[in-house]
Amino acid sequence: MEYTLRIKRYNPEKDVKPHFEEYKVTADAKDRVLDVLNQIKWDEDGSLTYRRSCAHGICGSDAMRINGRNRLACKLLMKDLPSKITIEPLLGFKVVKDLVVDMNKFFDAYKSVQPYLIADEHSGAGERRQSPAQREQFEDTTKCILCAACTTACPVTWTSDDFVGPAAIVNAHRFIFDSRDQGASQRLRVLNSGSGVWRCRTIFNCTDACPRGIEVTRAIEEVKRALLYEQV
Ligand code: SF4
Ligand code: F3S
Ligand code: FES
Repeated sequence: MEYTLRIKRYNPEKDVKPHFEEYKVTADAKDRVLDVLNQIKWDEDGSLTYRRSCAHGICGSDAMRINGRNRLACKLLMKDLPSKITIEPLLGFKVVKDLVVDMNKFFDAYKSVQPYLIADEHSGAGERRQSPAQREQFEDTTKCILCAACTTACPVTWTSDDFVGPAAIVNAHRFIFDSRDQGASQRLRVLNSGSGVWRCRTIFNCTDACPRGIEVTRAIEEVKRALLYEQV
């Protein structure tokens, strides 16, 4: 099938502002958007710049805006798109080149919630055991691949520089509700601050954008409840 791709291009070394360039491609129904971007880059225009690595929805590096929605290019099939496709970089972050955005702000927010197990006390019995029910409390948020699709779909992050964003909250949730972890109060202190969970207006764009199907808004609400009722 024939497709027309409008891709937002920006090379800070020669462009004053971003502009769209059009590419006509032939793609198979089972091709993914990433296959088509590769086809353009390898056969037509080697200067087209985007991130990708695993090509299988695992590394989180190729999130981009495809026809107005944040998607992973390696997960989206061409057969699920119309013949005219617009591709833009994620919103809310500085564009480095074409579809590549500066992720520093994203990873600074991620680091601010200490996304690792804090368990300084000796467990005594060797293993830190956990029941299936305890594991279930944070199972969903272990699936995050740090693609930033949620954070850059959230209107609050478009207008505010200091909101930690849904991805950081998801990764805080993953440890706050882990029965083996002892750092919940430190993380909750960060998330109770002016840049934390109370900036969330329950808009649900984050949940809609997540390619891993994580219930992002639910995780945020659980963190809010933990702050209100000290459930951890
Ligand atoms: Fe990506 Fe989902 Fe993780 Fe957000 S929660 S960074 S959308 S995988
Ligand atoms: Fe934003 Fe998601 Fe909250 S879109 S406002 S973080 S529910
Ligand atoms: Fe790794 Fe798409 S290239 S998630």
